Order: sequence, then C-alpha cells, then structure tokens
Amino acid sequence: MENKIENRGTAKIELGGKSFELPVYGGSMGPDAVDVRTLYKNSGHFTFDPGYTSTASTESQITFIDGIKGQLLYRGYPIEQLAEQSTFLETSYLLINGELPTAEQNAEFTNTITRHTMLHEQVERFFHGFRRDAHPMAMVCATVGALSAFYHDSTDINDNAQRDLAVVRLIAKMPTIAARAYKYSIGQPHVYPDNSLCYSENFLKMCFSVPTEEYVVSPVIVDAMDKIFILHADHEQNASTSTVRLAGSSGANPFACIAAGVACLWGPSHGGANEACLNMLKEIGTVDRIPEFIARAKDRNDPFRLMGFGHRVYKNYDPRAKVMQKTAHAVLAELNITDNPILDVAMELERIALNDEYFIEKKLFPNVDFYSGTVLSALGFPTSMFTVLFALARTVGWISQWNEMLEDKSQRIGRPRQIYTGAPLRDYVPMGER
Ligand code: SDX
Repeated sequence: MENKIENRGTAKIELGGKSFELPVYGGSMGPDAVDVRTLYKNSGHFTFDPGYTSTASTESQITFIDGIKGQLLYRGYPIEQLAEQSTFLETSYLLINGELPTAEQNAEFTNTITRHTMLHEQVERFFHGFRRDAHPMAMVCATVGALSAFYHDSTDINDNAQRDLAVVRLIAKMPTIAARAYKYSIGQPHVYPDNSLCYSENFLKMCFSVPTEEYVVSPVIVDAMDKIFILHADHEQNASTSTVRLAGSSGANPFACIAAGVACLWGPSHGGANEACLNMLKEIGTVDRIPEFIARAKDRNDPFRLMGFGHRVYKNYDPRAKVMQKTAHAVLAELNITDNPILDVAMELERIALNDEYFIEKKLFPNVDFYSGTVLSALGFPTSMFTVLFALARTVGWISQWNEMLEDKSQRIGRPRQIYTGAPLRDYVPMGER
C-alpha cells in the first residue's frame, strides 16, 4: 500500500508549561488527524481515548463512512450502487484489489474461489467433536482458527503467494464452514459445495438442500442473499476489524487473525446485534407493546437497549439498513408472506423511535442489524445463524484490511498504554502476617 496521507499543518499542545507541536495529517475524505506518535517520547504524557472515539488507528484506502451524511463507500463506490448492480464476489475483488474487475478478471477470480470451496475431509471429524447444541458461532470461530492446523502451506505471512492463497481459501471456505455448522446443529447431513452454482446459490444449497430432494431456489432469494453479503462486507475500523488488525500486527497467521475477528463480532453490541434484535422484536411481539420497550430504552437505570439502533459512527440512517428494508419487502413478496408481525413491529418501532425526542437528540437511527433478522428469518435461517452470516460476509473485509496492514510500512505491533490507578509499589506480606 502506498501511503498517501497529506500534511495539513501542525497542532500546538501546552503541557507542564511546555509547548509541543504535533503534525496534522489528512486524507482524501473525512476528518484530519493529529499525529500523537511522538507525544509520549517528548512530553511524558499519553493520550487517553477509551473506546477509541477520537482515534484513527491507521491510514486506509478500503472503506469510508460519513456518519453525518449516512454514506458508506467501498473503494469510493456507494454501497447502494454496489448492492444494486454488483455481486458479492465482484465486490470482494474490489475490496481486495482496489478496483472493479474487468470481465476477464472477474471470471478468473470467481473460478479461483469456486475451486477452493471444499474443506479438508478431516474437518468433518473436527465438527463431530462439537455438541449438537453448540452455537453455530462457536463452531465457526473454532473451525476458522483450526484451518491453520490443516492448511500449513498458506500461513507464512511473509510469502505473498501463501498470503494470496489464504485470502482465497478464507473467502471460498467460509460458506462451507457456515453451512456445515448449520447442518450439524440441525442433525442433517452436510452438503458438499456445488461448483456449478454462483457463490450465494451454492451457500443456500449447502444450507437448505437435503439428499432426498432436488433443491430449487428462486433467483430473487439468491439475489437477496448476495445483497446481504455485500452490505456486510466491510466497514472501516469497527471492533472486529480492529481485532483482526491487532492480531495481524503481531505476525499471527491469517486463519488465527480471522478467528479473532469472528470472536469479536459475536458480541451483541457488534455483529451479535442482528440475533439480539430479532429476539427483541419477538419479545415485543405486538405493536401495542412498543411504548413499553421504548420507555425501557430511554431509562438510564435500565441496561436495556434498542437492538439494531444506534451506531458509533452513523449519526444518520445507516445506508445498509435502507437496502436491507427494501430487501426484506422483496423477499417477503417473493415468498408470499403477507402477514409478518415481526416486520410490522420493526417498522412501527422505527417510526415511533425516529419521532421520539430521546432518539432524535442522541441521533439514534436503525443500523444494519435492524432489518437483517427479518430477512434472514424469512430466508429460513434460525437466529443462531445470523451472526455467522455476518462473519461469512465480513471475512472479505477483514482479510482486505489485514493485507493492507501488512503492506503498510508505517504499521508496527499494536500496543496501547494506560492510566494506571491500581496499588502503588508495596512489599510482599507473608501469609502469617496478613
Ligand atoms: C454493528 O462499528 C461498526 O461499524 C459496527 C458495524 C459494522 O458493520 O461493523 O456497523 C456493525 O455493530 C452495528 C451496531 C450493532 N449494535 C446494536 O444495534 C446494539 C445497540 N446499539 C448500542 O449498543 C450502541 O448504539 C452501539 C454499541 C452500537 C454504539 O455505542 P456507542 O457509540 O458507544 O454509543 P453509546 O453507547 O455511548 O451511546 C450514546 C448514548 C448513550 O446514552 P447516554 O449515556 O449518553 O445518556 O446513546 C444511548 C446510550 O445509552 N444509546 C442507546 C442505544 N444506543 C446508544 N439507547 C437506547 N438504545 C440504543 N440502541
């Protein structure tokens, strides 16, 4: 990656009667940043930013979010246009390589991914070590980490050919792993990939086909699945991507880094919110119970939060939520589901929240997770698979960001500091004297 940050002058900071000048850098879009890398060495002071609300951890050229406008760009292209006109594999090529592929490049990339969809046959035995009631995210997290025990010829991060192979294997095998976790959890035989199908149709077939019947799926459903993967592919330096980058900064192998990202994504404040959101909508159950939950969400003494609402960056409508809502209607229409109380509750909840002073003042809008559960549920997935689908799609974002970090000359091992408020220096007290 060619570093392209530009000088934007300096910032002065007064500390302990001394003045320190710090460089200010900027990029092609978004806020400028004060470079504090020399602050501790020169002033003996750290910066303090729990949750990194004001900290840029890296330069990146992959994804850009304007939280005020509610804008999301993958390599400069608006998410709405990619969701409407692209495919997940074409978008994956874009995220990894920086440019949209030519027809020939797209065909070659698709063929390469298709030819790596199978898993090492011994992974089957690995799966049989799980309890049948294991959460699919637990199985996916463990299996992704275990890939480094099966694919030793793609773990050396200093060998470009091995890194490229790891990128292909992760994108190609995530659907197979996700589908196997699902089939294992419902006690059905796993289904091998079918290389005659496109990425999303192959995934749906591995999840929903059974050996006893022919599997046919509508192109509307395949298109919806592909759109959902595009929407979840990348999102700047979110918690799980930052986890992957931090793991990668130590030189860990790609499978271990992506497994770390899967683990972080699982949390209900992050990728686990889609499962939590549908469970919340089911708990609300009917439109007349919405005010009770809105009141709880506003009560500072109640830890309850409106799942699928709010975002660290978006202080406007998450553009992915709009595409997801449209996809929900298309899927329900295609499946002739005219009565969907969950979607009715979701839409009424959104309407009420967006007109409520608390949500307006705190700039809380629906995020990507608010409607995804409704669509995924209609597609036939249990809530326990929702975050698995998020991880499947986000793998291409994680691996693109991981690659960018490895190619960034300014990157070093990530090692934050702290403000220590624990016990001062003291001597050990023998047991008999305590
Ligand atoms: C994802 O980072 C990414 O890009 C993530 C993601 C991606 O693609 O990678 O976009 C995917 O994780 C989407 C977010 C999914 N999570 C949820 O839907 C869970 C519910 N949302 C919240 O937990 C919360 O909004 C977060 C975690 C998403 C953001 O938390 P922040 O930025 O730390 O905001 P905050 O918790 O400081 O909230 C600010 C205020 C607080 O009130 P005060 O303490 O100032 O009085 O807003 C309130 C919060 O109490 N608030 C909510 C709320 N979210 C924030 N109140 C009620 N319901 C909510 N959902």
